[in-house]
Amino acid sequence: MSQTYKIAVLAGDGSAPEFMAAAIRVLEHTAQIFHLNFQFQEALVGGAAYDKYRHPLPPETLKITDASDAILFGSVGRDDLPQGLVEKEGLLAIRKHYGFFANLRPATIYPSLAQSSSLKEERLTDEKGNAGFEILTVRELTGGLYFGEKISPEKSGGQMASDNMKYTRPEIERILKVGFEAAQKRKKILHSIDKANVLESSKLWRSVANEMSAHYPDVTLKHMYVDNAAMQIATWPRQFDVIVTENMFGDILSDLSAAITGSLGLLPSASLNEKGFGMYEPSGGTAPDLAGLEIVNPIAQIRSAAMMLAYSFGLHREAQAIESAVEKALNQGARTVDIAGKKDVFEALRRPIAEKDKATVHQIIRVSGVLNTREMAESIIRELKV
Ligand code: IPM
Ligand code: MG
Repeated sequence: MSQTYKIAVLAGDGSAPEFMAAAIRVLEHTAQIFHLNFQFQEALVGGAAYDKYRHPLPPETLKITDASDAILFGSVGRDDLPQGLVEKEGLLAIRKHYGFFANLRPATIYPSLAQSSSLKEERLTDEKGNAGFEILTVRELTGGLYFGEKISPEKSGGQMASDNMKYTRPEIERILKVGFEAAQKRKKILHSIDKANVLESSKLWRSVANEMSAHYPDVTLKHMYVDNAAMQIATWPRQFDVIVTENMFGDILSDLSAAITGSLGLLPSASLNEKGFGMYEPSGGTAPDLAGLEIVNPIAQIRSAAMMLAYSFGLHREAQAIESAVEKALNQGARTVDIAGKKDVFEALRRPIAEKDKATVHQIIRVSGVLNTREMAESIIRELKV
């Protein structure tokens, strides 16, 4: 048996433990067929950690992540706790703690899902009628509005509040470098998204991008204002290949790019620091209304696991095998509710979902040929080959 890869598994809350379980099954199968040794160490984060330790990111968890080779993260979010608590002190805190400044979000448009897209199929296809392509958003993850100085409404007695979008030159340079290098490996087009007609931080961003582009003569750099970029993604997504942008803009544009793939449940991500240590998480949320029902789409989590294999362990062949298995399963018609495109099923599920009536939910999806979380993972595993 080869080297042991230590994976810290931080599932989080809501539906996340369900899609995490699916990803672990896929990883276990991958380990088996490729003769790899994965060691999973579970730790609590978000609401799950709060319940036990009164903190969304306790030292007990950091001890496990510190000792790991990579972090596989689920999702956090809890409406019964103060708003934003688990997001800020759980997720944002771990991003900042490890300096995960580079967040890669590949929104893949699978031809077989073109009908589930928020866009008309003709907006997705090229001259030959093919729909397959991908937009990789490179999002800055540890700066900008999320982490700038803040004044809370509580502090000002409810009279004012502010967030500060601050970027230093080195912060801009290191994320643009990730963007340029990604573009070099792909179609050699880089869209840098800013709001340089209004924001000072964007003015600096744009001038740094222009300076740096001299070092990447093979890459065509294009600037776009963020409002225009949103419009362009929603109307002519094919013009994009790699997008690089600051934290908040990247948060918004990556959800938009996921919508055109058909579902947020398909969008994985990798967050890397300067040393190459990484955390891998789906870009969507915890889907709290679906928690316990085991019908959420596990693909974003499974593809996040594949990104972990590629970026943290250099296991590119294995990562590719998982990606191909996902695509093949989709080609064969494997569908969870979010990508089934069946309006009548959605309607029929409304009441049993609200009542958390799992038996009825599963009965409805079974008769309509829609898969639950575990079955989707199984369909992928069936396609997973060396
Ligand atoms: C994301 C999420 C998070 C973010 C939330 C949960 C804090 O929306 O990863 O895109 O805004 O970064
Ligand atoms: Mg988001």
